[in-house]
Amino acid sequence: MNYLNKKTIEDIDVKGKKVLVRCDFNVPLTDGAIVDDKRIRESIPTIKYLADNGAGIILCSHLGRPKDEESKKACTLAPVAARLSELMAKEVKFTTDIIGDEAHAMAAALNPGEIMLIENVRFYKEETKNDPDFAKALASLADIFVNDAFGTAHRAHASTAGVADYLPAVCGYLIQKEIAVMGNALADPKRPFVAILGGAKVSDKIGVITNLIDKVDTLIIGGAMAYTFNAARGWKIGDSKFEPDKVELAKEILAKAQAKGLKFLLPVDNVAADEFNVNANTKVFEHGIEDGWMGLDIGPKTQKIFADAVADAGTVIWNGPMGVSEMPPFAHGTIAVAKAIADSNSVSIIGGGDSAAAVEQLGFADKMTHISTGGGASLEFLEGLELPGIACLDDK
Ligand code: 3PG
Repeated sequence: MNYLNKKTIEDIDVKGKKVLVRCDFNVPLTDGAIVDDKRIRESIPTIKYLADNGAGIILCSHLGRPKDEESKKACTLAPVAARLSELMAKEVKFTTDIIGDEAHAMAAALNPGEIMLIENVRFYKEETKNDPDFAKALASLADIFVNDAFGTAHRAHASTAGVADYLPAVCGYLIQKEIAVMGNALADPKRPFVAILGGAKVSDKIGVITNLIDKVDTLIIGGAMAYTFNAARGWKIGDSKFEPDKVELAKEILAKAQAKGLKFLLPVDNVAADEFNVNANTKVFEHGIEDGWMGLDIGPKTQKIFADAVADAGTVIWNGPMGVSEMPPFAHGTIAVAKAIADSNSVSIIGGGDSAAAVEQLGFADKMTHISTGGGASLEFLEGLELPGIACLDDK
């Protein structure tokens, strides 16, 4: 999918206009406090550009997946408005309204350079249904629509896609950056091009594997997904989590990789535990895992093999942890891979979600070329799928 022909905020006159900006402010919260503000920080260049160029800015986003009145309480965007105000050193007005009179009055009263945030668009069930009337009502707050919510670009919702039917629609700097970095890496990678895929399920990553197998020089598989592949090559996997119904598919992928002469790396050793517990007994197994033990991380030999493959890479794309990285005894493989990428001179692209969180937590963020703000969105982008939140924008 080529999105590089989409209009950006620099292709449209925003002076004196009201601009509705869809951000992805779906940030992790604990007891109402923002735990990671990356998505808020990443929205600032677009907001600043619009403010500096005389637009009145109406921000909108979802947060969480509110289902009922009770769950809505934990999904208010009020903490985001407060954090954005701090980061911008400028007032960000907040309204608990979304498409009603209060939101309209606040939007109408915005002076050039002023910023407001409306409440969580998912408080209306019409949002995720991409209801045209709801999209039209949102659009009526503004003269121009800017989508900068890369993390939600794979959703065809009213505020990410539907609203573009009613307003001139362009992308912001964050979407522009995400598609440029990842798009260029896929289209014209510096070689060797190495993809590292982890996580639980082959079924979650099959689209990415299928798309990348034609592009990369080396494909590395870790995480629970690797047990399905190791089962497919006839290795014992003990009590490890795997997908019996995906073993045939894994065999087909292995055969395709072999036919292409691709370097396809799977774990040769694993750290296994006698139960799924942070305090479980652990043992390292080579070439297969005994019954009564479940693999929860890649082992030391695999860490070295994976790190060596990354060391001379031109481009690395990484999505998904190598083990149960939220449990410290089983996080070593994920840490080793993050460190190897950080130490390499490659163009390094980290898909959002768990691998992005690992890189940030370990302090390697500034050593990476790009850490995507999108989990599901970056996966779908790497699968080569159309992202409705970008496809809907105006062409140049
Ligand atoms: C994300 O966190 O991946 C995005 O904000 C999308 O959220 P969603 O999966 O609830 O649509």
